[in-house]
Amino acid sequence: MPDGLTRARLTAIRYAAHETNLYEFTRLDGAPWPDAAPGAHIDLHLPNGMMRQFSLVRPGAAPQTYVVGVKRDRASRGGSIQVHDGLRVDDELDIGGPRNNFPLDENASHSVLFAGGIGVTPIMCMIERLEALGRSWRLYYSCRSRAETAFLRELQAKGERVTFNFDAENGGKFLDLPAIAAASPKDAHLYCCGPTPMLKAFEAATASWPRAQVHVEYFTAAEAPATDGGYIVELRRSGREIVVPQGKTILEALREAGIEVTTSCEEGVCGACETAVISGTPDHRDMILTASERAASRTMMICCSGCKSERLVLDL
Ligand code: FES
Repeated sequence: MPDGLTRARLTAIRYAAHETNLYEFTRLDGAPWPDAAPGAHIDLHLPNGMMRQFSLVRPGAAPQTYVVGVKRDRASRGGSIQVHDGLRVDDELDIGGPRNNFPLDENASHSVLFAGGIGVTPIMCMIERLEALGRSWRLYYSCRSRAETAFLRELQAKGERVTFNFDAENGGKFLDLPAIAAASPKDAHLYCCGPTPMLKAFEAATASWPRAQVHVEYFTAAEAPATDGGYIVELRRSGREIVVPQGKTILEALREAGIEVTTSCEEGVCGACETAVISGTPDHRDMILTASERAASRTMMICCSGCKSERLVLDL
């Protein structure tokens, strides 16, 4: 068993909405899973060799099961189709994580949550936690239609705290993100998980907000990896120096030199390869670090980010 992976059994598949199922996993050794905070995701290592990240639906301390929601997405890279078509109850697979790049600020006076489609899964986790804490929240949930809306009844029961927007039933109108953000309390924390166009619209609508109050979860890369090359990576702990040539990422150059590093998504969205930077100027391409974290450059994702200086010294 590779480091950091846990063998698990798929113990239940439940219908959640049109072409959307909930998948429940139990550890093969019968032990509870590590604590799962709202916003956390796990890596599913699928039988065909693919690895994909999915957000957990329920938070919990030492939960007996992890549950993820997966919508069949014909426009995706094939992970969701593999889950729908390739996984059956009682199948075994490896699970990595959990990791959390989308944590909930539990002290916020008010939280405004935006979900698009199956992006609602980490948001459901947040709502459950906010309810347990007695915190104030609002959800704006956008889907194509009612039939495709996971957790519809559960969320309808929350009353006016949830605003649905069914694009296909609403003349194709999308949520008015700028208006909602502008009307939100100035000390609120704003969260968004959904398709990339929605995340981009959310980031534009919240551009003037303090970065610490704005939270986004990406599951696909929006930037191409840095492959300009032409610099040296010094590995401080091992004392090795690796030349990164044009056309290669740091990760590829390290692997070619026989150096193994921990990775998962290998496209800058999961955080598994985050590495401390000792000196040099990273060329950040990931979807995890905030603008201020990019500016500080204390860490970088070596699967996709490169280097703008001649030498990069990493804590490896
Ligand atoms: Fe996922 Fe690098 S391996 S961010």
